[in-house]
Amino acid sequence: MVKSKVLVIGGTGYLGKRLVKASLAQGHETYVLHRPEIGVDIEKVQMLLEFKMQGAHLVSGSFNDHQSLVNAVKLVDVVICAISGVHIRSHHILLQLKLVDVIKEAGNIKRFLPSEFGTDPARMENALEPGRITFDDKMVVRKAIEEAQIPFTYVSANCFAGYFLGGLCQPGSILPSRDSVVLLGDGNQKAIYVDEDDIAMYTIKAIDDPRTLNKTLYIRPPKNILSQKEVVQVWEKLIGKELKKSSISKDEFLATLKEQNYAEQVGLIHYYHVCYEGCLANFEIGNNGVEASELYPEIEYKTVEDYMKRYV
Ligand SMILES: NC(=O)c1ccc[n+]([C@@H]2O[C@H](COP(=O)([O-])OP(=O)(O)OC[C@H]3O[C@@H](n4cnc5c(N)ncnc54)[C@H](OP(=O)(O)O)[C@@H]3O)[C@@H](O)[C@H]2O)c1
Repeated sequence: MVKSKVLVIGGTGYLGKRLVKASLAQGHETYVLHRPEIGVDIEKVQMLLEFKMQGAHLVSGSFNDHQSLVNAVKLVDVVICAISGVHIRSHHILLQLKLVDVIKEAGNIKRFLPSEFGTDPARMENALEPGRITFDDKMVVRKAIEEAQIPFTYVSANCFAGYFLGGLCQPGSILPSRDSVVLLGDGNQKAIYVDEDDIAMYTIKAIDDPRTLNKTLYIRPPKNILSQKEVVQVWEKLIGKELKKSSISKDEFLATLKEQNYAEQVGLIHYYHVCYEGCLANFEIGNNGVEASELYPEIEYKTVEDYMKRYV
């Protein structure tokens, strides 16, 4: 089968750079959007040049220049967008509405994967303010995609391991303590942790797969469905030491929101739904979804324990 040509938008980002690498690794002709707005951001420019040396094509285009995006999209079969959507970094999910118009006009795209890669927004209609903005914005983009009849795959990647395992599931922390941990509630809600490079590999596998057409791809590696307490146990085993444990109740957690700025509040609400409500693992995947590790057993995903070895 001929492999699709891929355009990655947001290719220098935290997830985007991994998508570019995975696309190249799986033998796709890979294009990366180079936005003139990055100016003299030397890190990004060097990263783009690195991609070029690895075989990617750099294509110039701006969200302020519709025709430049049309020209970029016309070069490929598949568009993957990894534009920012974490408020503590930056949040530009709705810019993708411009991209939807572009893809519709270009008319050649066989699959569009918008910037999702987290909790399935379709299951978050009762999410709390202000965190729900992430899910609401992603649903606005989904609606536009479906109204434009653009073939899609939505990737629900669950927890990026770096954020959640790094901090032992504690918001505001991305390096694990060797002394103590605060459990969110009883620490027993299951969540799902995925190595970011594995997310990228599964995503690229899905782009030419008819089984993922107009579906949500849930990434649920079975060994990585663990509670916060279980994550802490993995860490304790790795460092050979038991941590001091305290816990914060749901009400106390929500009360701390008021002390935080808006971006932090958004993040805290995401942790609330994951760690107190178990929103990632408390449902069965229905007919609108497929599970990545079942579809692609050839990918040897990184287990939580293997991921956490880097912090020892
Ligand atoms: N499940 C989880 O735990 C989790 C965690 C984090 C993120 N996510 C999701 O993953 C996706 C990607 O997030 P990320 O953290 O990888 O993003 P990021 O690194 O913060 O940003 C990705 C890219 O967004 C682009 N961008 C930023 N500002 C822009 C602007 N004003 N105009 C156009 N492009 C702009 C940049 O692209 P250039 O390369 O062109 O500069 C940047 O590299 C989001 O949907 C986010 O919600 C999920």
